[in-house]
Amino acid sequence: MTKFIPVSEPTITEKEVEYVLRAVKSGWISSLGEFITKFEEEFAKYVGTKYALTTSNGTTALHLALVSFGIKEGDEVIVPGLTFIATANAVAYTGAKPVFADIDSETWCIDPDDIKKKITSKTKAIIPVHLYGHPADMDPILEIAREYGLYVIEDCAEAHGAEYKGKKVGSLGICGAFSFYGNKIITTGEGGMITTNDERLYEKAKFLRDHAMSKEKRYWHTEVGYNYRMTNIQAALGLAQLERIDDIIRKKRQIFEWYREYLKGINGIKLNPEKEWAKNVFWMVCLLVENFNEERRDNFIKVLKERGIDTRPFFYPCSMMPMYKNSKIINPVSYEIYKKGINLPSSYNLEKDDVEYISDLIVKLLKNK
Ligand SMILES: Cc1ncc(COP(=O)(O)O)c(C=O)c1O
Repeated sequence: MTKFIPVSEPTITEKEVEYVLRAVKSGWISSLGEFITKFEEEFAKYVGTKYALTTSNGTTALHLALVSFGIKEGDEVIVPGLTFIATANAVAYTGAKPVFADIDSETWCIDPDDIKKKITSKTKAIIPVHLYGHPADMDPILEIAREYGLYVIEDCAEAHGAEYKGKKVGSLGICGAFSFYGNKIITTGEGGMITTNDERLYEKAKFLRDHAMSKEKRYWHTEVGYNYRMTNIQAALGLAQLERIDDIIRKKRQIFEWYREYLKGINGIKLNPEKEWAKNVFWMVCLLVENFNEERRDNFIKVLKERGIDTRPFFYPCSMMPMYKNSKIINPVSYEIYKKGINLPSSYNLEKDDVEYISDLIVKLLKNK
């Protein structure tokens, strides 16, 4: 039987099992408990912010940050034209309009020059996404934000531990939003986190996360809040994962190096970038094939799948989706890149032999073109 290599699977050790069991046995299985506090404290320390607030997932972390800033109908928020749809959806939940700025052709993250072109009097915030583990170019983004008085919410869902000029993502904007979905650098099953140095944001987000219940008067609610809490069981898993994050990132970088070495002879391809100012955590190894269109890409994915190798296409440009379709949106780089890219198996558990096996097949297939 051909072996099956998934694009991504979590790495769970005895440490995770032990912490989760401790949480379950303690009886603190909902959203109060020692692991919640510890996970938040340790995550804040890791990212380098004063505060970290757990949430039910990465999408709710983004939404909670946006509503905490008072973003609402009539406002606009600039997001990258190419990202997982949750970035744009979180904006849409508030009633505000996501406005798509194109991506940079080298980093595949939001292009600061295009952000400037998309600013109007309604713009309230920018959400740069650190796509596939590579940080967005934050300095020019932060400068634009200062000039126009905008909030910068970093979408760090795919980039735990990635660094921009030596600083961890999630500590650069007014806040960061992380996801701990099962395929992320570290996971809690489902889960998310807001990181910030801003006490007012932290307090407001904490309040809204818990049904906006008054601190002084229990069961008194002064506005419509949410239940966006994480459970203590999830936090137990998250804490164990966080204690292993350096090793996980080291392995991710190693896996990328193996691919780079095995695929280096092929013309007309590109792998993930790593700018001189960046530390990429290579959440997903990316392969861009210059002569791919959607059909050739899908066929390539199909052939690999038949040989037991799971891959996935890049995200589609958000403005291609029916709910965000708008003929005025011009994102040429996003529309050029999406059809050329696929994500290769990138799990922590991969061995050098696996990468060699996958790469050999890729080389064969691309040389036969
Ligand atoms: C860029 C990006 N933003 C937001 C999210 C949303 O996170 P979640 O799935 O935890 O809601 C994800 C991933 O799932 C993502 O990749």
